Amino acid sequence: MSGTIKTKNVFLTGGAQGLGKSYVDGFLAEGGKVVFGDINATVGAATEKEFAEKYGKDNVKFIEFDVTDGPKFEEAFQTAVDFLDSVDLMVNNAAMMVENLWENTISLNYTGVVRGTFLAYEHMRKDKGGKGGRIINISSVAGLRNSELAPVYCGTKQAVRSFTSSLAMAPDVKQLGIEYAVLCPGAADTDILRNLNTRIRYAHLFQAEMAS
Ligand SMILES: NC(=O)c1ccc[n+]([C@@H]2O[C@H](COP(=O)([O-])OP(=O)(O)OC[C@H]3O[C@@H](n4cnc5c(N)ncnc54)[C@H](O)[C@@H]3O)[C@@H](O)[C@H]2O)c1
Repeated sequence: MSGTIKTKNVFLTGGAQGLGKSYVDGFLAEGGKVVFGDINATVGAATEKEFAEKYGKDNVKFIEFDVTDGPKFEEAFQTAVDFLDSVDLMVNNAAMMVENLWENTISLNYTGVVRGTFLAYEHMRKDKGGKGGRIINISSVAGLRNSELAPVYCGTKQAVRSFTSSLAMAPDVKQLGIEYAVLCPGAADTDILRNLNTRIRYAHLFQAEMAS
């Protein structure tokens, strides 16, 4: 990431831990100012404290909220705008992978990303007084291929990839000043891949694949 992000005002969901936390660290290290949200109040507050000590308390803020709660998400976005003056990079990162809780998984991984994207879109669009900006949505390698292990998670990640790429095709994208990107990371050792027996189907197959 070095050299590519300069003084960006960033709002990111799911930043208390895992990959989201490392993105926040990277943006702050590059001179950005970051507001991150998370449903986990304890870990979120600890992360905020850690980064405030490292990068200064004026540069980072944590907001506890649940991405699946529309009004709370809107409120959090406004709090981020107040802290940052404007959001010029929105990262929709929060997600879960619990196949049994399929409605929650869809609501967080897809509906939440769509909501976050449209909140940022309305804020950034130059034709309505915004300054333009960038929206990065986090998909996965699961968004690029099918898997018997996590059909619901895979479906949401493919939806995120297709939604984001489709928005980027809009004829007025340049006029509105909004750029889109979708990231499809491979497997990383974070909470989303722990206790797999309770999260995915046929967990033994995944464990055997990872061990080979
Ligand atoms: N770890 C991997 O192997 C991997 C691979 C590809 C893509 N991803 C994607 O990367 C992103 C980050 O995942 P991670 O690996 O860091 O997992 P993680 O579980 O460590 O982090 C997810 C974060 O989202 C937060 N969160 C969960 N539900 C929420 C809600 N309703 N509202 C707000 N925040 C909520 C969690 O508290 C947590 O801090 C996800 O989009 C995930 O799908 C992860």
